[in-house]
Amino acid sequence: MRTPLSEHLQGQVHEDKLISTQDGLKKFYIESYGCQMNFSDSEIVASILKQADFSPTKAMDEADLILINTCSIREKAEETVRKRLRVFGKTKENNPGALIGVLGCMAERLKTKLLEEEKLVDIVVGPDAYRDLPTLIGNASDGERGVNVFLSREETYADISPVRLDSNGVTAFISIMRGCDNMCSFCVVPFTRGRERSRDPFTIVAEASDLFERGYREVTLLGQNVDSYKWANENTDEKVTFATLLRMVAGVHPLLRVRFSTSHPKDITDDVLYAMKEYDNICNYIHLPVQSGNSRILKLMNRTYDRNWYQAKVNRIYELVPGCAISSDIIAGFCSETDLEHQDTLSMIEWARYSMSYMFMYSERPGTLAAKKYEDDVDISVKKRRLQEIINLQNQVSFEHNQRDIGCLCEVLIEGDSKRSEQHFRGRNSQNKMVVFKKQAGLKPGEYVTVRIEDCTSATLLGSIESSP
Ligand code: SAH
Ligand code: SF4
Ligand code: F3S
Repeated sequence: MRTPLSEHLQGQVHEDKLISTQDGLKKFYIESYGCQMNFSDSEIVASILKQADFSPTKAMDEADLILINTCSIREKAEETVRKRLRVFGKTKENNPGALIGVLGCMAERLKTKLLEEEKLVDIVVGPDAYRDLPTLIGNASDGERGVNVFLSREETYADISPVRLDSNGVTAFISIMRGCDNMCSFCVVPFTRGRERSRDPFTIVAEASDLFERGYREVTLLGQNVDSYKWANENTDEKVTFATLLRMVAGVHPLLRVRFSTSHPKDITDDVLYAMKEYDNICNYIHLPVQSGNSRILKLMNRTYDRNWYQAKVNRIYELVPGCAISSDIIAGFCSETDLEHQDTLSMIEWARYSMSYMFMYSERPGTLAAKKYEDDVDISVKKRRLQEIINLQNQVSFEHNQRDIGCLCEVLIEGDSKRSEQHFRGRNSQNKMVVFKKQAGLKPGEYVTVRIEDCTSATLLGSIESSP
């Protein structure tokens, strides 16, 4: 029920809005780096800023507020941010009134140090403090540089409806949890994102339903470790696991595809695999990062599984969800890794038949367990060589994976024009593979088509439409 006070406040807010509309809305520009969580957070930031009468712009030089949502996962990611800040500095020379804000993981890691090191930065805001942005911006306009890097145990931004930035109108990401309670020894995320917490499932389902109503046809449920999602209703003791959540979101509509990322091998349960079997609209694709194929290295990495255990998990996935594609993250040259141990990673790529992998050279991150306990002793030239071997092998394995699809029919959700040709559409199949095929009159993004696969590269399937809706 609305109280007279809230009536009054609403009137006021409305009046304020009228004034600022007459002045012209202030504009913000945002660049995002790092993982999907960060891109998803930028959409939450956009929503908070919209409430504060800012509208997004793609032109940095016309912005009143320039934001960069940063990543700290590897040293290179932070170097990229520093370079972009130099570019922002140049823009600010022509537009001295513009404010510059650093958001995300690097803001959280470096805190006030960022203000000391980067004189042009006005505000530094960590991933759990975005609600404070309007206040920090207000203070910065008055010349007071500010930092809020408070990490919360509760914040999930559950009530905020993200403003979709750079959207294709077909696929969207939904954050279902924040933070990470694992302590993989190489990883900075637990320090930059804080403790793990799960979002109220009913707000997740509501967001998915709303997206479906607006024409979206695919949602990806996001978290650093989605399989450890857990939520309990304080009043009724009702519990929701990740498998239950998957079923709830899949139940929104059979035409809404559901994906999820990332699955830590130690937490994915049979119940999740059964949910994938039960619902045709839960995609047959699991991102299951192995990191290394060698048990000694996995122990040093604190991944809590060894090679055999991981292989048993992969077998179980292929057994319960035949045709499921599995992809991975792999780190080359972790502390003390020998050439023989590196061979175990190579053999794992072949054994697991990954459809694709994200592959990295180990980069020591300050403050992590590995930085404290182990020496970063694999020479850079060795790391580079091992990474190249991993990439070469994965490309070959991906190519073979794709070749096995030639002659098959698959259902593809059209996402838009192919990057190379306006005569072709691109979309993904259930296994998350990119499929490119010639357009047919009347078809548009957001529709499903059945495509016969005729050819492939290591990254893309090529085919032609067999039937459309
Ligand atoms: N939560 C996800 C991964 C998040 S980070 C998971 O557990 O799988 C994404 C990937 O970056 C990791 O899987 C890892 O392969 C890589 N990564 C993380 N820290 C790294 C580091 N210090 N050096 C190199 N790669 C790293
Ligand atoms: Fe990092 Fe491990 Fe957490 Fe993934 S599960 S975010 S790799 S600590
Ligand atoms: Fe990077 Fe933070 Fe994601 S460190 S990978 S943006 S959680």
